[in-house]
Amino acid sequence: MNSAKAEEYLRKIKEGQVPSHVAVIMDGNGRWAKKRGLPRIAGHKAGLHTLREIINCADEIGIKIMTFFAFSTENWKRPPLEVRFLMSLPEEYLQKDLPALMEKNAVVKVIGNYNRLPRRTLNAVSHALQATRDNTGLIVIFALNYGGRAEILEAVRNIAAKVARGELTPDQIDEQLLADHLYTGGIPDPDLLIRPSGELRLSNFLLWQMAYTELWFTETLWPDFKREHFLEAILEYQKRDRRFGGIKK
Ligand code: FPP
Repeated sequence: MNSAKAEEYLRKIKEGQVPSHVAVIMDGNGRWAKKRGLPRIAGHKAGLHTLREIINCADEIGIKIMTFFAFSTENWKRPPLEVRFLMSLPEEYLQKDLPALMEKNAVVKVIGNYNRLPRRTLNAVSHALQATRDNTGLIVIFALNYGGRAEILEAVRNIAAKVARGELTPDQIDEQLLADHLYTGGIPDPDLLIRPSGELRLSNFLLWQMAYTELWFTETLWPDFKREHFLEAILEYQKRDRRFGGIKK
């Protein structure tokens, strides 16, 4: 796709409403590397460039929240070398890109279970959270050691503990209360999910939050995913008719 096409997309997008929150499963790095006879970690490295390009584009078109699936609770099953490399990426990214994120007035957030994260990853995360907490621009959320079912379980356990302590009664438990106990408490649900690489599933990502999210899939692998693809997804989203289970007025 040429950049003239991207500019045409951009013009059309500006006529409509951009989604507030876009979630992305950054998939296909391993296949991208394999196709080139490279080690899988080369694919993850290339994926980091795509991440930067998409954050810039999201900021440019006025999206408020971007959530990226960076490491799932199931990714620990990968070879130790790959796991170690994947765990070093947040550190590399957050250190190198913090000045650029600050310049964008961006807020960094991390969702997931912090328990198994290596000390160095945790340090980089807490530094970025701290440094950007008072910013008011684009919110960039990384799902790290994240699993949707684990998130719901943790929320249910916390709610049950409150009931056991007498702080809540069972009839006070409603959808809002459960949502507030998720890692994403206070953050609106994604409007759009983008999944590259031809896989057509949610893979345990934001299961509760994506009940009414529009899904957009592409065969393009994440390292090949460019600004044009992102704009194409946004434009496609603008054509969707979102009824949230209701009917058109
Ligand atoms: C899935 O591709 C991708 C990942 C498990 C990791 C993606 C992470 C990044 C691109 C960088 C993260 C950066 C930060 C700042 C947290 P895959 O390996 O499953 O690809 P495959 O399905 O082709 O094997």
